[in-house]
Amino acid sequence: MSKETVLITGGAGGLGTSCAHALKGHRLVITDYAQGPVDRAVADLKAKGFDAVGMACDITDAAAVRKLKDFTAQQGTFKGLVHTAGVSGTVGDPRKVFDINLAATAIIVDEFLELAGPGTAFVLFGSMMGHTVPPDPRYDTALRDPLKEGAYAVIEPFVQGNADTMYNFTKRGVLLICKDNAMRYGKRGARVVTVSPGVIMTAMAKKALEEHPAVMKQTLDMTPVGRYGQPEDVANAVKFLLSAEAGFITGTDVAVDGGVLSQILK
Ligand SMILES: NC(=O)c1ccc[n+]([C@@H]2O[C@H](COP(=O)([O-])OP(=O)(O)OC[C@H]3O[C@@H](n4cnc5c(N)ncnc54)[C@H](O)[C@@H]3O)[C@@H](O)[C@H]2O)c1
Repeated sequence: MSKETVLITGGAGGLGTSCAHALKGHRLVITDYAQGPVDRAVADLKAKGFDAVGMACDITDAAAVRKLKDFTAQQGTFKGLVHTAGVSGTVGDPRKVFDINLAATAIIVDEFLELAGPGTAFVLFGSMMGHTVPPDPRYDTALRDPLKEGAYAVIEPFVQGNADTMYNFTKRGVLLICKDNAMRYGKRGARVVTVSPGVIMTAMAKKALEEHPAVMKQTLDMTPVGRYGQPEDVANAVKFLLSAEAGFITGTDVAVDGGVLSQILK
């Protein structure tokens, strides 16, 4: 039997790399923004005995995502997708955060629906910060449908130029997109879930530690397990969610946050 294929977006990034390492036994399709990092990630995986292929793709470009879907479909029996690609507020531009974290997620969910079949699973990346944005119909409609013309203009006034705040809104949007797509995917026998990491020690979090040390310390003090997360904590959850053992889990979020949300959202 041919190996099952799993696509990993952000496959050259911190959590993408870690997810790849947790998925030995699959054929891994590694994608990221630029060809160089993709080639390096694939070479590193192959050197470690993984079956991996790569393709660069700017996920904000729907035509490029369609090509990625076709490439993925050619690699064997499709098992699922792990969508880790994203940027934090440190990029400074709320529009960029919106386009990469939210609009691109909607593009991926729409384009890859065609590959959703019985037993497949789609794991999208939210964040614990997505849970800190309260429900509000004034922006939720736009978060749920970010590709609709004018969606950015609806959300912008609530964010007021702050890219960190936009990050939180986009991650709420990803949580909503997951719920909204559960039935659409379910009708094809597929599952769609989000994973919401807490503070995980990747390059993204290390940057936040440098830029906001007091906030990060406060977060650690409020974490019941008493430590920051490691990429493997997230990768292990992703591995489970992709597996048949998670066959009754869909349309929901799994927080991998050391319990911090239980303290923030009392
Ligand atoms: N690290 C954490 O503590 C943490 C916490 C909560 C949520 N998250 C979420 O987890 C996911 C992965 O985070 P990470 O720490 O691995 O970040 P990372 O920066 O290490 O990796 C993200 C990857 O996304 C890629 N990317 C960015 N824009 C792209 C585009 N337009 N097209 C294709 N690829 C693009 C980057 O090149 C990078 O390799 C993100 O969605 C992030 O929001 C991370």
